[in-house]
Amino acid sequence: MTGILNYIRGVRNDDITLEKYAISAKYGFLSTKQPVQFINIEYYKPWEDIIENLPDLLKEGNLREEIDTNLPILEVSDELLNNVFYLRRAYSILTFLTNAYVWGNKFNGETPIEILSDNIAKPLLKIANILGLPPLSTYAGLILWNFKTVSANNLCCETDPIQIEILNTFTDLDDERWFYIISVFYEKIGGSVLECGVEILNAIKNEDIRLLKSRLNLISSYTYILGDLFTRMNEHTNPDIFYNVLRPFLTGWENSKDLGLPNGVKYGRHGKYKKFAGGSNAQSSLIQFIDILLNVEHKNEEGVANGLSYILEMRKYMPYLHRKFLEHFSAACKLKEFVLKHADDHPDLVKDYDDCLDNLKMFRDKHVKLVTTYIITPSRKAKTLETNKRKHHINNGLAIKGTGSTSFVLFLKQCRTDTVDAGINFKKGKRSS
Ligand code: HEM
Repeated sequence: MTGILNYIRGVRNDDITLEKYAISAKYGFLSTKQPVQFINIEYYKPWEDIIENLPDLLKEGNLREEIDTNLPILEVSDELLNNVFYLRRAYSILTFLTNAYVWGNKFNGETPIEILSDNIAKPLLKIANILGLPPLSTYAGLILWNFKTVSANNLCCETDPIQIEILNTFTDLDDERWFYIISVFYEKIGGSVLECGVEILNAIKNEDIRLLKSRLNLISSYTYILGDLFTRMNEHTNPDIFYNVLRPFLTGWENSKDLGLPNGVKYGRHGKYKKFAGGSNAQSSLIQFIDILLNVEHKNEEGVANGLSYILEMRKYMPYLHRKFLEHFSAACKLKEFVLKHADDHPDLVKDYDDCLDNLKMFRDKHVKLVTTYIITPSRKAKTLETNKRKHHINNGLAIKGTGSTSFVLFLKQCRTDTVDAGINFKKGKRSS
């Protein structure tokens, strides 16, 4: 095992501090140090060269040929293994290449390919395993480790999303960049949420009601701000381009029979078939953290608490340390129990807790609106417009399922219902206090 792997796997839940999980109050689940913009090792130049040209190669329909004929199979060297920032960059590059290779560019008439070439599959499987992530495009490779800031001195996006730039894209379109930028900005705001979360644990431990109330008020405000941020998506991301051009690249191969990959993807000529959900913001640790903090219990289709398998499944698509943080925080946080215990003496504490859920519900309402604008409406439009039978078939498959393979309308509604159900005096949008 490498030193990095040893550290990652050794983290325990004895005392929850952000540093231990490589997260911070300032930058949340984003890296505390800005992601590297390239792997500064000559041997890996072929990866850097191909990712730089990815949008052009896709546009011209030459990506697969370029990978098959000109990309060497590169070993994962110790120099790479011992630098976590290089490993993350390598993961981001190879997963962009994976999704691009598998799906191709449907506008060039390319159809999916089920065997991933060895020169991507071999190093990717090794790197993904070390980072504890699946070997395809995930939120980590698309968002968390794929940005830089405009000012070199500025670690990250202090005040506005326009200070963020994106490193890798499939399309070289601002529509794609802005979708990623907004997501990076969510994570940046999330840093303050994480800090409040840890302070809430301490307030509960010390029975410090005043501190608890003040931190609940902050969580409520940040959750409101996060919900409001959805309205900025349309500044540069056009729904038709999102739906028709970008989204196909983000799709996974979990339940992709309708899309031409009934067995998933075979990782290398002699490799195994594997199935994975596609890249989705449901893989953001931030919103799951807020749920855990507020003790929102997600239910599955049978109404079983903590059984909403997709939410839990998405943890496997988060970096290992972030997943551990959620797990450890979940075991430690008994906020609702504490609020109920003090409800008679401190009815305003109940109100503060319910206010957080109110804003989290609003966040989910706004998210559902976004999904309508960016998926449901363009999918209807595309169905009406399309005459090509094959394209029609592909969009049908995507419209019914999210990139993460969910039947997303029911799933998102259930997430919203679970938020309301967690409230004490807050039910079905009606507040009794
Ligand atoms: C154009 C923009 C967006 C679209 C079309 C969209 C679509 C979706 C869809 C279809 C799902 C269901 C799971 C799946 O299959 O992927 C989902 C889940 C989710 N998305 Fe988004 N999303 C967008 C932006 C965002 C952003 C910016 C965030 C911010 C963090 C976000 C956070 C979430 C979360 C947390 C879930 C899990 C369900 C929940 O907790 O309520 N999404 N999204």
